Amino acid sequence: MIQKSAIQSSLLQWFEKNGRDLPWRKTKDPYAIWVSEIMLQQTQVTTVIPYYENFLQSFPTLRHLAKANLSKVLKVWEGLGYYSRARNLHRASQIVSNHFHGKIPHTLEDLLSLPGIGRSTAGAILSFAFHKEAPILDGNAKRVFSRLFAVSGNPGERKTEGLLWKISESLIPKGFSNPFNQALMDLGSMLCTAKEPECDHCPLNYFCKGRASGKPERYPPKGLKRTIPHVESVSAVIKKNGQVLLNRRPPSGLLGGLWEFPNWKIEEGERLRLRLRNTIKKEMGLNVKVDELIGVLHQTFSHFKLTLHVYYCVAMGKNKKGRWVAVGNLHLLPMSRIHRRIANALSGGR
Ligand code: ADE
Repeated sequence: MIQKSAIQSSLLQWFEKNGRDLPWRKTKDPYAIWVSEIMLQQTQVTTVIPYYENFLQSFPTLRHLAKANLSKVLKVWEGLGYYSRARNLHRASQIVSNHFHGKIPHTLEDLLSLPGIGRSTAGAILSFAFHKEAPILDGNAKRVFSRLFAVSGNPGERKTEGLLWKISESLIPKGFSNPFNQALMDLGSMLCTAKEPECDHCPLNYFCKGRASGKPERYPPKGLKRTIPHVESVSAVIKKNGQVLLNRRPPSGLLGGLWEFPNWKIEEGERLRLRLRNTIKKEMGLNVKVDELIGVLHQTFSHFKLTLHVYYCVAMGKNKKGRWVAVGNLHLLPMSRIHRRIANALSGGR
């Protein structure tokens, strides 16, 4: 098809001139490319760059990562969010080490068998690290293809997603999957953006049915907007002899494996100090005197908003649960962003 090869060559030419110079594009190491793709799953390029570099300094090879303990991995990941990515990456490195002779697999099936690798990430690894003709369909590629072919279905629906995968697969130019897939990502984040796409500068504008419709932003159609729930919690900084009492979250689930100040959800209208005192007694076996309010912190997660009321408490006896940590050592433990803010306030803004 004439149009297909014209689309391919226009995009490749544009990429050669305008493609971004990103650190993971300078390496051929499949391990480094894999790390970058996991970090980029839910996070923007500019945020990822320093984490990528620091992660590879801390764990320069797959074996270093496989041998590291999870706490160290989470510590290096701290602040990047979506911590299940770090746990999966760590577990996957051990699987590769034990079952694939330490070599990152280069078939779709084997890659998909590893935790944290879905079809698009597998496609990215296969094309960037092994130059295989594997399609990708990340958020950028979905938007580009929806517009280019004026696909009116919602990419969240199976049928439409299937169609977009077929498009992605059919467009890969033989022998050029690497630059082609990178180009799709760059086009999606540099020109074919969700809001105000820059069609005038787009190398595919001549072919684009979305643009021809006069309203490219209509593609892909937005799903129904979810309203995200608001959760309120209380948290305690329980002090004794220069130490504070922390809990570790269970290894799986939200923020799994991270350390935090004891905290519990509250219901509307609950008396916060009373709830805190009673719950610390019940859950941690410790009597406390609830002291002053340290502050009220807010954070937005992917699926809820959190307001956290943080109180100083004084321990009045022995605890049955939790671990005492010297304030000066808090920086050594992996913590979520909101608990790190509390820790920083205690250690004088470290
Ligand atoms: N998003 C996901 N993978 C990417 C990559 N390799 N380059 C730029 N953005 C990306």
